[in-house]
Amino acid sequence: MSDEFDSTQRPFRFFDNREKYLMFVTTCGEKWAIAEQVGSEIANISPRPPALNLFDAGTGDGTVLASSLRRLHEAFPHVPFLVVGKEISLEDLRLTLEKLPDRFAEHPQMVVVMTNMHYSEAPRLCPNTKAKQAALNWRDCALDGSTSHEFETQINALRPLLRDWWQVRTSDKTGNPLYEQPSVLVLYRADQKFVLDAVIPRRGACDLDYDLIIAAQPYRARHPVEIKVRTVLAPLAAALAPGGRMITIQATGQDPGMEIIRAVWPGEQPFQTPGPMLLEALMPCLAESFPDRRYSADTQRTNLFRYGLHVMPTEIREHIGTSTLLAAWNAAVYVAQIDDRQVTAAMTGSAYLDATAEVLARHGGLWFIDESFVVSRQT
Ligand SMILES: C[S@@+](CC[C@H](N)C(=O)[O-])C[C@H]1O[C@@H](n2cnc3c(N)ncnc32)[C@H](O)[C@@H]1O
Repeated sequence: MSDEFDSTQRPFRFFDNREKYLMFVTTCGEKWAIAEQVGSEIANISPRPPALNLFDAGTGDGTVLASSLRRLHEAFPHVPFLVVGKEISLEDLRLTLEKLPDRFAEHPQMVVVMTNMHYSEAPRLCPNTKAKQAALNWRDCALDGSTSHEFETQINALRPLLRDWWQVRTSDKTGNPLYEQPSVLVLYRADQKFVLDAVIPRRGACDLDYDLIIAAQPYRARHPVEIKVRTVLAPLAAALAPGGRMITIQATGQDPGMEIIRAVWPGEQPFQTPGPMLLEALMPCLAESFPDRRYSADTQRTNLFRYGLHVMPTEIREHIGTSTLLAAWNAAVYVAQIDDRQVTAAMTGSAYLDATAEVLARHGGLWFIDESFVVSRQT
């Protein structure tokens, strides 16, 4: 098996493959199931003026963000929103922006900020070094009009600019994409500029903290616990507002998806940092500087939830078509984050399709189990 930290070969780059991600997002219900989990946190937050601050720690294609916003806008129809989305991928940025026009139409008092910065920088919209601060791209975009179509047209017109600002290079060390220049795009309705004055972030003056932080699949499954805590969870938990809540979601592998993986690669163990282990490591890391952080009621047990592959009932009963088998296989290797080279090698034979068909037939479909856990800040 290839090692992503092996410097002698091109590093493992799993989420390079957009098609896998897009196929997974559209054929499985995970992103809606995640938004439901986010929705269950709504009753626990009490935003304070001037706005409800929400941070999405990796918007991906924006399905989780858009669906979460629909729930939040219903719950807080008269509260202004500041929504900050971190996303390094230009394609995912485009897909996220596409989902925003109707949100601006339904909930006018909303500022949306998109940035490509790192976890340690993005919550405060400020790069870590003076040199990067000097190179920061920052664009305020007041959207004219009042309809979704007007907003969509103006957001689409930003594409050439974003193509320049969202350029990446590949880290020699990890294979992960790194931004060329830190960039911030601020969107709000022009007709709300006056009332949103205290909510619109200003370059260099962003002392922001958050009522709700969504960390959905925010890291690579195979990263060690120390890296997940130090580079992702700790900086995010540090950015909580008083009374704020951070919900983290990750895959568990306790599901038929993992049976497909084990049938093809018996030794695979992608999920070695369960939620309780992460919380145990996070607590001492925050104890000194952030003693007011609290952890899911029972740190030994996290909240498990299930989502499935969309399959027509007749298919499972009568005949599982090749495209369903391919979608199921894609979902299994995507969730287990299997190296592209391993997947390509497996797909030269037919054992992978046989294993997928067998698991689908035995379980009458395919599903996965995710877990969620919450870190909160005392009021
Ligand atoms: C694409 S993003 C996640 C963006 C967004 N928060 C979401 O949930 O779609 C970054 C990471 O998510 C991983 N990822 C997304 N969904 C996953 C899932 N259901 N299981 C395992 N990894 C997943 C990708 O492999 C990548 O490492």
